[in-house]
Amino acid sequence: MEIMIEKLTGIAALRYRVREARATGAIGFVPTMGALHEGHLTLVRQARAECKTVVVSIFVNPTQFNDKKDLEKYPRDLERDIALCQEAGAHLVFAPEPEEIYPDGFCTAVTVDGPLTQTLEGKYRPGHFAGVTTVVAKLLHIVQPDRAYFGEKDWQQLKVVQRMVADLNLPVEIVPCATVREVDGLAMSSRNIRLSPEARKQAVFLPYLLNTAQDIFDAATYESQTDKGPVISAWLTTLLENNIPGAEIDYIAVIDPETLMGVDEIKDRALVALAVKIGGVRLIDNRIIFKR
Ligand code: PAJ
Repeated sequence: MEIMIEKLTGIAALRYRVREARATGAIGFVPTMGALHEGHLTLVRQARAECKTVVVSIFVNPTQFNDKKDLEKYPRDLERDIALCQEAGAHLVFAPEPEEIYPDGFCTAVTVDGPLTQTLEGKYRPGHFAGVTTVVAKLLHIVQPDRAYFGEKDWQQLKVVQRMVADLNLPVEIVPCATVREVDGLAMSSRNIRLSPEARKQAVFLPYLLNTAQDIFDAATYESQTDKGPVISAWLTTLLENNIPGAEIDYIAVIDPETLMGVDEIKDRALVALAVKIGGVRLIDNRIIFKR
């Protein structure tokens, strides 16, 4: 029998429904900003496979956008998103208005300090992670799930959320989910639909570049020094500049996957993370490279 998905916009109503559902089994939670694609829906399906009840939040969180235009341009289609959630097996959609989350007088923030939030996205998007951790902390308190699902596509966000949950002893298991890609390798993102046909073609160079990082690392010799993070990132930068001349690089970094600090000599594994604007659309992606 097909379950009818329920949309709730109020915190009190959502809490009431979740409390009822909790009596029957585990609650899985997938926080999103909508404009759902296969990446999001894979998280929903995994939650469905592991939990009795699945809650998806759809909330374009204004406080995590450091660029107002980016917020205005963020794609929104709630009816379509709800239909997709239903298909993927979610039971409840929480879609609050901004005033429900940030009522008049709201003035509390949850922040994670240190290199985890200061490097990479934190450096290029000031205030972004404070917005993310504050809204995720609120959503976790509102839903009180047993498990919450986050994509490795936003690796730094995943690490920041894991830190916050550990530091605040929040009683939830954070479940990381592998990045879902288009057939040509481009990581799925709500921003991809803003790419022009030309930029879309160029964007496929990003996953290619990440895979090339593994090849460069594999071929490391004493002379090439390509087992060193800075050497790999210099190679990747040159490759990108030569192949996609218009690309604007924020960073191409080789880092420790847990601390997010730059690594010099790669021992077993490292994370290659990049943020690049192609045709005016900012794309991020990452992959682990490892000693074979
Ligand atoms: P959003 O960008 O909508 O992403 C929601 C979740 O889907 C995140 O955990 C993200 O990592 C995951 N995701 C996005 N694209 C993916 C892909 N291609 N493969 C796998 N997972 C993918 O991330 C946010 O929203 C917000 O910051 C949020 C956590 C909801 C707080 O506002």
